[in-house]
Formats: sequence, structure tokens, C-alpha cells
Amino acid sequence: MKILYATSEAVPFCKTGGLADVAGSLPAALAAEGAEVAVVLPLYRRVREKFGSQLTFLCYDYVNLGWRHVYCGLFSLEKDGVTWYFLDNEQYFDRPDLYGYMDDGERFGFFSRAVVRMLDHIKFWPDVINCNDWQTALVPIYLKDDGVREDRFRSIRTTLTIHNIEYQGRYNPYILGDLFGLDAGWVEDGTLLMDGDLNLLKGAILCADAVNAVSPTYANELKMSYFAHRMESVMRKCEYKLYGVLNGIDMDRYDPARDPSIAANFSVDDPSGKSADKAHLQRMMGLREEPQVPVVAIVSRLVSHKGLDLICEVLHDMMKLPMQLVVLGKGDKKYEEFFHWAAQQYPGRMAVRLDYNEELSMAIYAGADLFLMPSKSEPCGLSQMIAMRYGTVPIVRETGGLKDTVQPYESWRDAGNGFTFANYASNDMLHVIREAVYLYKDYPDSFSRLRKRAMACDFSWARSAGEYLRIYANVTGQVWPPRETVPAQETASEEVPAPAEAAPVEVPAPAEAAPVEETAPVEETTPAEAAPAETAEKAPAKRKKAAPAKKAPAEKAEPRKRSAKAASGEKKPSALESTGKTAAGETKKKGTAPKKK
Ligand code: GLC
Repeated sequence: MKILYATSEAVPFCKTGGLADVAGSLPAALAAEGAEVAVVLPLYRRVREKFGSQLTFLCYDYVNLGWRHVYCGLFSLEKDGVTWYFLDNEQYFDRPDLYGYMDDGERFGFFSRAVVRMLDHIKFWPDVINCNDWQTALVPIYLKDDGVREDRFRSIRTTLTIHNIEYQGRYNPYILGDLFGLDAGWVEDGTLLMDGDLNLLKGAILCADAVNAVSPTYANELKMSYFAHRMESVMRKCEYKLYGVLNGIDMDRYDPARDPSIAANFSVDDPSGKSADKAHLQRMMGLREEPQVPVVAIVSRLVSHKGLDLICEVLHDMMKLPMQLVVLGKGDKKYEEFFHWAAQQYPGRMAVRLDYNEELSMAIYAGADLFLMPSKSEPCGLSQMIAMRYGTVPIVRETGGLKDTVQPYESWRDAGNGFTFANYASNDMLHVIREAVYLYKDYPDSFSRLRKRAMACDFSWARSAGEYLRIYANVTGQVWPPRETVPAQETASEEVPAPAEAAPVEVPAPAEAAPVEETAPVEETTPAEAAPAETAEKAPAKRKKAAPAKKAPAEKAEPRKRSAKAASGEKKPSALESTGKTAAGETKKKGTAPKKK
């Protein structure tokens, strides 16, 4: 299975949000499961600055976009079994930031166009392109557009991952031809039209073969107007191809037992280091060094959907409890001003840093006792998982991935891994904060068992990668895992893995439509319970990287006719051979290759 992952950001190269964490981890996890994976992202200035010397220049070509004829350089880098491709155009991407420019539409229109057109130069012809959010939403559209004229593009299936439906890529419909080089028909038939706007995300939802929201609950929520930012009817229409695969976290990077960035290491079996981390945090933030007082932490972008209004409403009631509060984040001015002012009212008990600071955030995850995340909506949320891994018990509102990862504490049977509340109401939040603070203070043994349960949760990417591969198997009709690598025992019992038999999603009749619950197996197990299932799934992970022999059964099961060229992975020879130059070296040289401005 060949997968091309198209993204506008990825750790460690460039990051503004959770998409970068996902794009930085999922491809390697897919490769570890035996898939052939490549990632493609723009060559931003910061990538060139930090990684330029590690990049290899492969070739350049020109991409047609409307009336433009635009230079596109191709660089690559190998990492963790994944090939990373970077598309270069200095006019679009040699800028200090990733987004926030008035021509973002044109920049990512170019990027999506280039992802498709540069396939000829990329080493493999993908079975699936997984695009992410609005920035790469035009990829499925361009594939369909080109597929009308060129057969080979029709063999490629597409999946769209929605990390946050709030950002849709909305433009004036009149720019469709000029900016994106597409025919007016795309707007006239409604595919790219939404509330009078050109809407890139809507087009991708309709045209992709599968759509994945980043948690089972978010996949369900997207069918409701409260969460869907006007996209609910589109989501309901596409319910038959909607999945909700929960994100994971990089369990090696976030490992309190080995993390060199924290003051003292600790683990589930030996949590003693955590108190040193707490004392360190209190000192660093100017809080009183009181071991018996729980430190409640907020590490978040300070924006409305993170539920900060709830905190503003009851902050003074919270501070009447025997607790300390640490806030790290920046964002909307009104929240920044509020927290700045509030911290001055509670010297020694409340500390605020209006900043985005990776190192400090790790000190907080390691040193705090409780992690507050009362989001109004939260597609998946990664911080609560990181917090749990570091033994910081989450207090969350039951929405999106927060609901899927945090099970409420139940004292009567000593179960759960955090605290939750359902309604978006400040008093409900205050109630569970009070419960958490007093459990910490008055029942330390119960609290430490709760903390251990939180730390023991399995949020590894391997589990999610398996779910993604099932989606890819569904849309391509390929068998996954490939039959000959299925352990003999399984084949003997004729227990063929479900995804292998799943019919490809191709214009299914409404009667076949399955609700998200059924199509998203992740929902059936909570991460905490997932361990045995994962072991079973992981067994065939030892299989080698895709070998030619693997193709045979896949092709047998492949109901679609793929063009001979596509099936053999043949690519058009590049006019320019690899020169083996590095990005840094090439930058200078590239002056000779004219760029369309
Ligand atoms: C977005 C969402 C967040 C999710 C992340 C990765 O940032 O807001 O909830 O965890 O994407 O999918």
C-alpha cells in the first residue's frame, strides 16, 4: 500500500498546531505497519533554515495554475522509514510564518496543484493521498479534474482528515478560474459552493473517497449544527464514508521516564520524581512551594473554543479552593488581559505566562497535578493525552476527543482516568474541579491510583495507524494486512481480517450507509482498554516493507481497473535528473532557474 500524506505542517519541520504533531508521527507509524509512506509539505523558510543542509534537491518543474506558470522545486529527505518531499517556491513559502497572508488561498492552491502535478517526479505512484484540512483540500478536486483527461489520476484514492472544521478555506467564487484554475462548473453544481462562498473544505468532503474526523465523538458531532460550522448537512450526506480515528501521541517523545527536558524523571512504577518536578515548577513560576496543595494547569491557545469563558466566570470561586493555578498560552487579547490581571490578585497561588513555550509546557505537564481543558469543542486534543502520560490528571468537558480519551472518576468502583463534565456550564466545571482538588488533598491514595491509571493509558500511534490502514484498504479495495503475511493460524481459521473484505467505498447506495459508530471501530474500545486488541493487531507488524510479491493478492482483490502504468508504479521520467544538491546549495543556484512571479 502506497500512501502519500499531504500536509501544510509537520513536526519537527514546522508547527503551528496539532496537525503538525499528527503529521509528524502518523506517517512513521504507518510505515512501521508495513505501508510505503511519503509525506509532502511546502518548503517554508524555517524548514530551509533548520533542515536545508539535510535536504536533497531532486528536480524542478513548472506547475500551471490558471494563467500562472509557476516554478516548483522538489527536495527530499529520508526519516524513520518515510520519504519526506518538500515543494519549493520562494515567492510563496520563503516567508517568516506559515499562514496569515492575504494570498494564502493562492499559496495553498499552488501547493495542492503541485502535489498532483509533481507526482510524475516523486518516486512512487500512490494508491492513496491523505490530505489534511483546507490547505490541501483541493487535492481531491484536482485529481478528479485531471482524471477526466488522464486515466492514471483515476487510480488514486483520496482521504481527507479534518482536524478542525472551523477553518474551511472560503473565498469569493469569482476567483475560481483565476486563482485555482478550475472550471466554473465546480461552483455551478454546488460542489465548491457554500453559503455563497467558494468553500474548499466542502469540495474535499464531497470528493474524497473517505473523510476522517480525528476522534469518534468529533465524527458524530460534525453532523450537528452546534459543532459543524454550517457543514452539518454536508457531513450527514457523507456519513457513509465518515470515520473517526482517534489521534495518538508520540509515546517516545513524551516519556516521563526518559524525557531529558524535565527536572526529574519518573514512571508509573516509580512516580517519586514527580514531586521534584512539582517543586521545580512552583519555584520557577513563583508559586508557594506547598507539596500538599494541588497545582491545576492550563496549557492552551487562549481562544474562545477552548472554553476559557467558563474559567473567567468562576475563577474567583476556583481560587477559594485549596489549589494553585498555572496558565501558559497566548491568543485573544481579552483572555490575555484577564489572566494577566487575575494572576496579580493571587500572588504565590496563581502564575500566568502569555507565551508559546515548548520547554515550559513540558515542565508544566511534568510538575502539575491536574490539567484543565474545558473546551467548547475539541476535535481530538493532544494535551490531555500528554498530561496523562506525565501523571497530570485531566479535568475536561465531554466533547470530541476529550470524551473519547478521558473516562470520569468513579469513587465507588475506583475507576476512570480523569474528571469530566458534560454541559458547557461554569458551575458544572467548578463542581468537578472541587471534586478533584479534595480527592487530591483528602484521599491521596485514591488520587495516586487514579494518577497511575491515567499514566498507564495507551495512546500510541500504532493503534491509530491500524485504523487508518483499514480506511485505506476500504477505499482502494486492497487487502490489508496483505494476505500472505497474515499468520498461518488466522488464515487456517478462515478468519479474514474485516478490512480485507470491506468493499471499496464507491457511490454506495444509501441503504449501505453505516453510521459512524459502525464504521469507526475505535469507538468500541477506549484507549485504556485497547491494549489486548493492539497486541493482536500488532502481530503482523513485523512484516517487511512492501515487497513486489505483496501486490499479487492485493490486485486480485482490487475491484477497480487501474491503468497499467499506474499499477506498475511507472512514472514519467523527469526531464531533470537528480543532482544530489542540498537545499542550501540549490538556493543560490536556483536564481538561474527563472521563477514566475
Ligand atoms: C486540531 C484540533 C485538535 C486536534 C489536532 C490534531 O488542532 O483543534 O483538537 O487534536 O488538530 O488533529
